[in-house]
Amino acid sequence: MVDRILSLKKEVDEYQANGPAGVEEFRLKYISRKGVLGELFEALKKMPPEEKKNAGKILNELKQAAEAKFKALTASVVTASSVSGEIDLTLPPVPNKIGNPHPLTLTKMRIIEIFERLGFNVEDGPEIEDDWHNFSALNFPENHPAREMQDTFFIRKDPDVLLRTHTSNVQIRLMESVKPPVRAIMPGRVYRNEAISARAHCFFHQVEGLYVDKNVSFADLKQTLYHFAKEMYGRDIKIRFRPSFFPFTEPSAEIDISCLICKGAGCSVCKHTGWVEIAGSGMVHPNVLRNCAIDPEEYTGFAFGMGIERVTMLRYQINDLRLFSENDVRFLRQFQSVI
Ligand code: PHE
Repeated sequence: MVDRILSLKKEVDEYQANGPAGVEEFRLKYISRKGVLGELFEALKKMPPEEKKNAGKILNELKQAAEAKFKALTASVVTASSVSGEIDLTLPPVPNKIGNPHPLTLTKMRIIEIFERLGFNVEDGPEIEDDWHNFSALNFPENHPAREMQDTFFIRKDPDVLLRTHTSNVQIRLMESVKPPVRAIMPGRVYRNEAISARAHCFFHQVEGLYVDKNVSFADLKQTLYHFAKEMYGRDIKIRFRPSFFPFTEPSAEIDISCLICKGAGCSVCKHTGWVEIAGSGMVHPNVLRNCAIDPEEYTGFAFGMGIERVTMLRYQINDLRLFSENDVRFLRQFQSVI
C-alpha cells in the first residue's frame, strides 16, 4: 500500500494537463470520490492498526499534493486560455466608463461660441481679489450698503483681500490693461456668503460681458442680449429689460427671458410671473471708465453679468442648484449624449 501511494505521489507531481480536458481528467482520476484517493481511503479503513498510522500519514500527504496540483493546473489553464485568445465572446462587455463635460461647462462653451461670433474675446481674471477691483473701481462708495448686499467672504482686512463676489472685477483689470475698443466676455467662478439652498449657493458662476468703444449705445446692449437669448433658447424666446441699480452702470437694467418651463403660463420656477431673470446689465458708469483712465467724453460702453447656473437650469430644466456641485454621477452622466 505504501509503495502504491508513493508511486502515485510521483505520478501526481509529474502530471501534465493538456488543456481544460486534461485538468478534468486529473480531477476524476485522483480527487473525485470514485477516484484513486477515495479507493485508497476505503482500503485504509481495513488495514491492521500498526500499519494504518504510517499509511494514513502518507496518504494524507498524497491527498494534499493532489489538491495543490489541481489548483495549480486550473490556474494555468485559465491564464493560458485568455493569453491564447480562447476568450468567451458571448460574455457581455464590461462597460467602458468615459467621462463627459459638466453641464455648466457645456453651457459656458455655448455662451462663448455665441459671443465669439459677435467678435467678443474671452478674458480671465483672479478669484482672490482686492477691494479696488471688486468694489472701489466699480464705483462702490466707501461704506455704501451695496457692498453689504454682496455678502463678501473676506480673506484679510486692511488692506482687504477677498473672494470676488462677481466677475465685474475682470472688467476693471481688462480696461486697466488695454485701451478701447474692448469687446470681451469673462466667464468664471464667484463667491458669496449665502446659505445653500435649491436657488442659492456660496459659489456659482457668471459670465461678464463688456463692450467699450466710441458710440456704443443701449440699443447695442439690447440687440446683443436679444441675439444671445435667441441663439441659446430658440427663436420663440421673449426678452425684457427691467430698470435696476448697480453702482457701476447707469442706466442699469435686469434682463428677464420668458419662462421656458411653463411657456409664460406661470410656474414655481418663474414664481408665477412668466419671466425669469438671467442677467444684470447697463451702460458703464463714467466713473468706472475714469477709474481705468478711459475718457467718458470719448468712449461709452455696456456691460452685463449673467449667471451660468441660471442659464443652464433653464436650458436643461434643472430645478436644484445644488446638483451642480454634488458630483453625483447619476446626474452628470445624463449630459453624456448632449455633446
Ligand atoms: N456684477 C453684477 C452682479 O453680480 C452683474 C452686472 C454685471 C450688472 C455688469 C451690470 C453690469 O449682480
